[in-house]
Amino acid sequence: MHGHTSCLAALALSSIQPVAASLKAAASLPQYVYEYAPLVWLYSGDAYRPSDIGAQVANTIPEVNWNAVNGTPTPLTLDNLDSLNDLGNTSVYLTTHNGIAQEPEPSWWFGVTPNAQGRTGNATGCAIVTVNHGAGSLDAFYFYFYAFNRGDIVLGEMFGDHIGDWEHNMVRFANGTPTAVWYSQHSYGQAFTYNAVEKSGKRPYSYSGNGTHANYATAGTHDHTIPGVTFPDGPLEDYTDRGVLWDPTLNAYSYTYDPSSLTFSAAGDYPLSWLNFNGQWGDDQPPNEPSIFGQAKYVAGPNGPKFKDLDRSNVCPASPCIIWPFKEAGNSSIVIA
Ligand SMILES: *[C@@H]1O[C@H](CO)[C@@H](O)[C@H](O)[C@H]1NC(C)=O
Ligand SMILES: *[C@@H]1O[C@H](CO)[C@@H](O)[C@H](O)[C@H]1NC(C)=O
Ligand SMILES: *[C@@H]1O[C@H](CO)[C@@H](O)[C@H](O)[C@H]1NC(C)=O
Ligand SMILES: *[C@@H]1O[C@H](CO)[C@@H](O)[C@H](O)[C@H]1NC(C)=O
Repeated sequence: MHGHTSCLAALALSSIQPVAASLKAAASLPQYVYEYAPLVWLYSGDAYRPSDIGAQVANTIPEVNWNAVNGTPTPLTLDNLDSLNDLGNTSVYLTTHNGIAQEPEPSWWFGVTPNAQGRTGNATGCAIVTVNHGAGSLDAFYFYFYAFNRGDIVLGEMFGDHIGDWEHNMVRFANGTPTAVWYSQHSYGQAFTYNAVEKSGKRPYSYSGNGTHANYATAGTHDHTIPGVTFPDGPLEDYTDRGVLWDPTLNAYSYTYDPSSLTFSAAGDYPLSWLNFNGQWGDDQPPNEPSIFGQAKYVAGPNGPKFKDLDRSNVCPASPCIIWPFKEAGNSSIVIA
């Protein structure tokens, strides 16, 4: 009886499969976008792990000038977040209930540590966004979300903590073949040829800085005083190592972005409205926050993926764009030359 039923089920399945497969194909990203997706090495001692994008909305209150925004939909979710654009636009900050200096820190700031397979449980901390430039040229952005960014220690002081942290890699493809990889770091980042970077099989490694989650092509200490160039030591250091391996694609939402119409589309059953949100993903900088040489301990939360120069002619968001053909972009023989 059991065998008979599954045989029928198999028949039924095989007869509907062509339709289902073609629907799915129409709504999904090219397979190579997943095949060549970066794997992220989180720093062993980093307390702040990848976090659920939607949980950031659930755990915060939208505020403008530290006042709760009136008239927001209830509940506010990733499916209606862009309604805040009419209620304050870029001045909206998704704000924590008890401030950035609260102790003990709420558990949601720590995100979810990936398991042995690199999966972050039920937390979706990655959004993949492809931009098709035509003629076989496609950029795949892999956005990584962390609920909290712990800044760097400079001369014994902590600088640059903020709520909400968006980082990314971008892989540029020519006819499905990866050619270059961009690593976001603080206000800028670095580009490398695909061939130069360390990989696991086809997948580039991205090393995430302790607390700051800036992305590097190699493990070790990276001074990032000069944007786009890293040295093994200096006044402003990020630490990376092979701590915990995160496979962002296992908990990801997938989208396409059309630069000519400035439109995102979901490549599957994923929330869409949040990508159009113009506000900030964490608290504003606290009023009267002391700063030394323009550096403060607590700074404002960042805006989201749509503000990360999705329509790039180069792999870098600005020119000139150096695409390093070897993995150490602080290579002194090149920099000093
Ligand atoms: C890494 O960050 C943790 C907090 O998340 C901190 O306790 C530790 O000292 C940092 N390690 C280094 C090498 O900076
Ligand atoms: C809202 O912010 C976006 C992004 O900066 C901007 O393009 C748009 O003009 C703003 N809208 C209004 C009404 O100010
Ligand atoms: C994930 O599961 C935990 C435990 O069941 C729950 O507390 C949390 O709200 C869930 N998170 C999401 C984003 O669904
Ligand atoms: C530094 O640059 C030189 C080319 O000038 C290259 O041969 C060498 O492999 C580079 N070193 C590293 C560690 O990438």
